[in-house]
Amino acid sequence: MSHWPKIRPTIDELVNRQFETREFKKLFAVPLTARRVEVYQNHMTFYANNRRDCWSFVAGKAPLDVKRAIWEHEKDELIHDDRMGRAHVTEDDLRAGDESLLAPGAKAAYYAWLYCAREKPWLEGLVYSHILERRNNNAIIKGGGLVERWKRKQRAELGAKEAAKDFQTEVHAVADEDHSDIFEPIFTRYVDSEATAQAVLAATRDGLLIDRALRGALADAMLEVE
Ligand SMILES: [Fe+2]
Ligand SMILES: [Fe+2]
Repeated sequence: MSHWPKIRPTIDELVNRQFETREFKKLFAVPLTARRVEVYQNHMTFYANNRRDCWSFVAGKAPLDVKRAIWEHEKDELIHDDRMGRAHVTEDDLRAGDESLLAPGAKAAYYAWLYCAREKPWLEGLVYSHILERRNNNAIIKGGGLVERWKRKQRAELGAKEAAKDFQTEVHAVADEDHSDIFEPIFTRYVDSEATAQAVLAATRDGLLIDRALRGALADAMLEVE
């Protein structure tokens, strides 16, 4: 019997509560300027790259059906997404970015995610990556997921024309809803005992904590420039 339906409401409550944390509030309170958006985007480039590493490490340890779901997901990310007219992350993005400008807390968060993907059992490793798309899922997050809210913030503070240039934000406001839904059957199948349910809940709490570390560091880094 699946234990997923039993823990799913708690997980959804946790991802919703993420938006009430000090770090998320701080991030959304940063007044946007062109230079601050540059800082944000540089962090997102290496965040997207870190996601690719993490999903791959999880896929390496997971059963075939999970590898298949991850592979499906990574097609948009690494090969091509029609909505964006390109892959979500490319070598050009990495070349245009500057890793030396990452906030210490952001770099530490990326290493933490890498550690969890490599060292934890695959189902927990999967949660650490999945939870970041779940808190982007507009069907789950009341008031819109992180990227949807960020899209609205950029449109309100920079204007629709300037905001539209950030197609990463525009596309992820939609794409992560599908990406998050891909894993529902996987969790239904594999969260099959009280022990796995507890492990998945612990990984959820832990993963959301790392996410908060990144968002707080990002807010500070943005506030350091005018
Ligand atoms: Fe993506
Ligand atoms: Fe994704």
